Amino acid sequence: MRVVVLTGAGISAESGLATFRDAGGLWEGFAVEDVATPEGFARDPDTVLAFYDARRRAAASAVPNPAHDALVALERELGEDLLVVTQNVDDLHERAGSRRLLHMHGELARARCTACGLVTAWHADLRPRPACPSCGRRALRPDVVWFGEVPYGLDTIEDAVRGCDVFAAVGTSGAVYPAAGLGATAAAFGARTVELNLAPSLPAVPFDDVRVGPATAVVPAWVDEIVRGGTPGLAG
Ligand code: OAD
Repeated sequence: MRVVVLTGAGISAESGLATFRDAGGLWEGFAVEDVATPEGFARDPDTVLAFYDARRRAAASAVPNPAHDALVALERELGEDLLVVTQNVDDLHERAGSRRLLHMHGELARARCTACGLVTAWHADLRPRPACPSCGRRALRPDVVWFGEVPYGLDTIEDAVRGCDVFAAVGTSGAVYPAAGLGATAAAFGARTVELNLAPSLPAVPFDDVRVGPATAVVPAWVDEIVRGGTPGLAG
């Protein structure tokens, strides 16, 4: 049984990391066009770099929660038949132990040089404009995907979604494409679809099954079902 799990900010909420669109979320305090677009970065790089420096620090001091852990248990069970696709730029999935993982919106823990193209692991602040370890130019940006840029791994994701038997969306509002369209693709190619969320989203194509609750409760319960040999995605 091949499973694709798409995760969003909701899976890290109980680790203390803010989501975007919930009450008190990041997009209440910041305008998307200011801090999450190439144009915003060109206009005011200090503000953008400081925004991601703060988020990198928050992510570094957060710890994975039982929902991240449950997806590691699912990988132990399914091996190569599981792919976790995350929209999150934190590293809680990999720190929990997930290996079959794709960061479609990039990673806070990586920097990219806008001068020479180097992409490298990065854990320090970028606002002080450290020199690129390769070319020496002070031109590093966080290796995150902004609106108007192309997400990472789309071909791999599309193949996995078309070929999966079960597609699960965890803690994502379904507001941002192409991630938001993956459930509809999975359904069109015959997968069972399930949403695990604190509050159901409003997808273009309804999920077959919706499990409502905090990720730390509903994700471990759903994984348990699969590990015990149940039919994931089927209600009850
Ligand atoms: P959103 O902030 O849009 O949605 C968060 C989702 O998590 C909502 O559906 C909540 O109901 C759910 N949620 C909150 N707390 C939860 C909990 N404890 N357990 C389970 N679910 C919970 O975040 P994303 O959908 O991840 O992109 O946002 C998608 C993209 O929009 C992000 O990757 C980012 C953002 O703009 C870029 O910056 C390119």
